[in-house]
Amino acid sequence: MSGTAWNLAALVGERVQGLQEYAPEPLPEVARRLGVSEDRLIKLDANENPYGPTPRAVERVRAFPYLHRYPDPIARRLREAIGAYIGVDPAHILVGNGSDELIDLTLRAFRPGPKGGGIAQVLDFPPTFGMYAFYATANDMTVVRIPRGADFSIPVAAVEDLCRRDPRPRLAFVASPNNPDGGLLAEEALERLLALPLIVVLDEAYIEFAGGSRAAWVPKRQNLIVLRTFSKWAGLAGLRVGYGVFPEELIGALWRLKSPYNVNGLAQEAALATLEDLDIARERIARLVAERARLIEGLRRFAFLHVYESQANFVLSRLQGVHLTAVRRAMEARGILLRYFEGPNGEEWVRISVGTPAQTEAVLEAFANLKANGGGGDGL
Ligand SMILES: Cc1ncc(COP(=O)(O)O)c(C=O)c1O
Repeated sequence: MSGTAWNLAALVGERVQGLQEYAPEPLPEVARRLGVSEDRLIKLDANENPYGPTPRAVERVRAFPYLHRYPDPIARRLREAIGAYIGVDPAHILVGNGSDELIDLTLRAFRPGPKGGGIAQVLDFPPTFGMYAFYATANDMTVVRIPRGADFSIPVAAVEDLCRRDPRPRLAFVASPNNPDGGLLAEEALERLLALPLIVVLDEAYIEFAGGSRAAWVPKRQNLIVLRTFSKWAGLAGLRVGYGVFPEELIGALWRLKSPYNVNGLAQEAALATLEDLDIARERIARLVAERARLIEGLRRFAFLHVYESQANFVLSRLQGVHLTAVRRAMEARGILLRYFEGPNGEEWVRISVGTPAQTEAVLEAFANLKANGGGGDGL
């Protein structure tokens, strides 16, 4: 064999150099590292649903007869059912491989091409879900970061200011409830953002735990997109089903752009079955909402936690006088997995997904123990 010695790494697009691989440790490895069996892990780090899919979804996945067939590329039956669930004409709905795919698809639809057109800038409001900035960078778009306030609210006046100074159209990604704090975007703030030259992508991944979706606004607004998912409330994170509610003018472009078989048949079937099992799904949502209140109340007993109100299926606390490493060590010693964040000014936070009552007890007991032991020597 002869020929060119390729330097493949140098040929990869420059934007890719700055991206971080996303590869959380698989559960069996976590279990091995912590020395506990996998079924004893208390996994509260990814805002998953501890109750799993509804019985009907499990049953229909088990009996699914079409593994050898290609799925419906435009998910007709599922879109009809979603339309009925959210009260929006299915002509506005596109289903994706998780809402992650729809974040990417939306950005790809607007990214400027060599012949011009498109939108070059994306507004991001950190701390928030990291995938907006990730996919914007992956699509060669410029991310303009406007940090949230200490209470995690969006500084709308700063956005208005920016748009006044430079009124070119931009995409703005807003999670409501926001991840990691669980706060909702106020209606007044949304109205002010929609009045600007912005296409607002409202990410309602957790809205079932809050109520008050704006999905039904989409047909009446030109510059609003709403993203939703079956990953959280429906317990289908592993199957990857999300959907977007898009303005009619835009959705044709997205149909043309998307991969033909983006949502597999099992995923479509499970989502459809969940929508036929709404009583059970809603009962579980109610259980998680009640458990969220119990978790918040329990956490508020610890002076070293500043606990935020949440409208989602997770609760964020800022650590004060105890170090993240001490909390992580204490939790992992009990097989408890939580999500930890560090802010640019030395802030440390822990985000706890709402689990079962027994899981709440385990977390609260671990915090009580941490307090009793003085934070393991390097904290409290
Ligand atoms: C705000 C937000 N949006 C979207 C997602 C991704 O959801 P999906 O599983 O549908 O891709 C998450 C997942 O954590 C999230 O927190």
